[in-house]
Amino acid sequence: MKIIIINGPNLNLLGKRETTIYGNTSFEDYFKGLQKAYPTVQLEYFQSNIEGELIDKLHEVGFEYGGVILNAAAYTHTSVGIGDAIKAIESPVIEVHISNVYAREEFRHRSYISPNAKGIIIGLGLQGYELALQAFL
Ligand code: DQA
Repeated sequence: MKIIIINGPNLNLLGKRETTIYGNTSFEDYFKGLQKAYPTVQLEYFQSNIEGELIDKLHEVGFEYGGVILNAAAYTHTSVGIGDAIKAIESPVIEVHISNVYAREEFRHRSYISPNAKGIIIGLGLQGYELALQAFL
């Protein structure tokens, strides 16, 4: 089964960015470990800081892949376009957030992804991506 992890804006800085919230591990390192742990899964990773590129990627994979693990980061709280893209595609999407967005500022409590997601994993750190992967498998 082909599964893709899609990360949104600023998540390219994981490991360096607000480490008390997001931890010290870069996503590239975490992803390498995940690939090693699940060698039989066709697992891909895409990150962009640009909303339209995230939408294009969802369109590209969304009629073929068995699952999409999506952390749309700040666009979660603002992007009608990404919400609509999830509605438009056929692949199931699991929404992941590293931090517990409900324990943070109120603007993070709104998600345009959640109503269209198959499931949501929030606040369990990077482990959330692996739990989403296991759910698809
Ligand atoms: C995040 C939470 C968002 O509110 C924030 O904008 C992010 C990361 C998370 O994984 O905890 O960039 O999606």
